[in-house]
Amino acid sequence: MKSIVCAKQFDKSYLEKIFVLAKQAEERNHAYFGNIFPRMVLMNLFYEPSTRTRTSFSMAAIQLGIERMETEAAGHFSSAAKGETLHDTIRTISSMKPPPSVIVLRHPEDGSAEIAAEVSESYGIPLINAGDGGNQHPTQALLDLYTIKEEKGRLDNLHVVVGGDLLKGRTVHSLIYLLTKYNDIRFTLIAPGQLQLKPGLIEYLREHEVPFIKRDTIEGNIGDADVIYWTRYQTGRHEGNAPATELIIRGENCEEMKKDAIIMHPLPRIKEIAVEVDKDPRARYFPQSGNGVPVRIALLQNLLG
Ligand code: NCD
Repeated sequence: MKSIVCAKQFDKSYLEKIFVLAKQAEERNHAYFGNIFPRMVLMNLFYEPSTRTRTSFSMAAIQLGIERMETEAAGHFSSAAKGETLHDTIRTISSMKPPPSVIVLRHPEDGSAEIAAEVSESYGIPLINAGDGGNQHPTQALLDLYTIKEEKGRLDNLHVVVGGDLLKGRTVHSLIYLLTKYNDIRFTLIAPGQLQLKPGLIEYLREHEVPFIKRDTIEGNIGDADVIYWTRYQTGRHEGNAPATELIIRGENCEEMKKDAIIMHPLPRIKEIAVEVDKDPRARYFPQSGNGVPVRIALLQNLLG
């Protein structure tokens, strides 16, 4: 497979392959992979802040013996600060002799990864979308799906509650594309009206005959959920102030949840999950984040192997 731009592009057999490789990577637990990627270089090109995605791509590369080049805050420290277009930056990086083996891009504009991938691929270099504005975050969706599979033991027959900023939260968009590939999935979409899922994704659910309901409160809507996937308000991707409605999962909400439900969050958590929830065994967001490394090892093995 070439560049990874949108979660829609993964089919079930690809997902299964990634899950097997990720499980193997987890079981190796630091055991050296051998010199399987001699002199390969991964370039992390991040125009937006990141903790988990950037460090887990780096850790995955280290585990595989791939060298790394890091450009943190590329908006300030690359030539973007001088007015260079993303197009020219990708051309420049791809023209290096030798060029990097893969570019991992995070950028604030929707659709930027697709444009950048077209440029890098014209040089034979795959590009991985590590988040493009409020659009997609396909590798996060891979680790989210892997987490659900590990925690619940299945990917079919799930009631998934997604909540928070469904309009601009890119991880939810990618996750919906992936879960829709499985059987007997239904969604409850919890958000204040102005932060509900955009029409394109609602249409996608209808086209794929995936049942969903829209709600705007937590109370009374999570009792039957197998997975509760919560997200933060995407400050900076909206004009104006945050909506007055605050959807915060607190200790008392957990009483309503099924015993075997799991609570997920792509992180960073701001205040939308109260800290008291962390000690509930159903809170799985930190193990979820840890799964970023084996899943990205799997992804790089498959892409560069
Ligand atoms: C998410 C992102 O960047 O979209 N974080 C992540 O990559 N784990 C979620 C967020 O920033 O809210």
